[in-house]
Amino acid sequence: MEHQERVFSGVQPTGNLHLGNYLGAITKFVALQQSHQCLYCVVDMHAITVWQDPAILSHNIREVTAAFIASGIDPKKQIIFNQSQVSGHAELAWVFNCVARMGWLNRMTQFKEKAGKHRENASVGLYAYPNLMAADILLYHATHVPVGEDQKQHLELARDIAQKFNVDFAEAIKAAGHHDGIFFPQPEPLITGPATRVMSLRDGSKKMSKSDPSDMSRITMTDDAETIVKKIRKAKTDPDALPSELDGLKDRAEAGNLVGIFAALNGTSKEDVLKEFGGKQFSEFKPALAELAVEKVSPIGDEMRRLLDDPAELDAILKNGATRARAIADPIMAETKKIIGFI
Ligand code: AMP
Ligand code: TRP
Repeated sequence: MEHQERVFSGVQPTGNLHLGNYLGAITKFVALQQSHQCLYCVVDMHAITVWQDPAILSHNIREVTAAFIASGIDPKKQIIFNQSQVSGHAELAWVFNCVARMGWLNRMTQFKEKAGKHRENASVGLYAYPNLMAADILLYHATHVPVGEDQKQHLELARDIAQKFNVDFAEAIKAAGHHDGIFFPQPEPLITGPATRVMSLRDGSKKMSKSDPSDMSRITMTDDAETIVKKIRKAKTDPDALPSELDGLKDRAEAGNLVGIFAALNGTSKEDVLKEFGGKQFSEFKPALAELAVEKVSPIGDEMRRLLDDPAELDAILKNGATRARAIADPIMAETKKIIGFI
């Protein structure tokens, strides 16, 4: 097999790491390390597409690193590193800036949301961000990318970029010995389970996000038990009892969200949760959810704090990860340059 299966994913060090990041992405990272070679990247270059205070950025890079390890990713077995330490990300992103078309990027909904009314004042980096993300993945010829639902469109773009590069440079790729004409494999998104889009606890129509001004909208990985309980108690719901069937969650975004969170934390399905809690009121469901969330999240928060007490050790892990990442990336980048015709 020319292309070995390989997992890549990234998380931005922009603070307020939350339950959506954990359930939508990090728990998948942990599971995949049993079966695959994995690279998990703290994407600091993506973070600076919007302003980051330098001292806080350094802390946040270590915090995401600590979250990966505290959640159960083994940095000896898998590669944990930060993007800016491997220069190939920036190099390949430039190549992809010249492969991707303006029209493709103009369709990216996340840019439209993030830039909002201030489009003229958004950084060029924020606009080109999906090309850097494609470079992250393809620099390692990664085949599988676990992400939350919100990254689906960016993954489709990465596939289009891989495809266009393979077609544009078909002859050179074959001349380099890739007889199937495939230099960059098509990365497959892995978006599965009951919590691929965790919603805000205050508004079931908005996704849980790091940048929501209300801290009550999200459970962060470093919230203490008391805070987790309080946030779930105050989470917005409707006055009805929980339904017994999935159909009954239609048009009940907040109820559906809490059921999804319960299912994901418990490693079961929404159907299973409704089997247990159908017909029960939120006054009964919320304390059960709070207990489960504390049981799952608190130990991770505690371990993150312990790891963050020794920043030098975290920095050493990132440095070691970057060295191992470079060992995969450098030959692929060198071959890319050759295919393009660079000397
Ligand atoms: P980010 O914080 O944007 O770097 O996201 C890191 C990972 O968490 C990505 O795979 C996202 O798709 C995922 N993610 C972010 N927010 C949510 C959410 N509310 N629900 C599920 N997954 C999410
Ligand atoms: N853009 C992703 C996010 O905001 C983070 C990311 C950067 C990523 N590079 C990646 C995710 C590569 C998967 C693969 O969530």
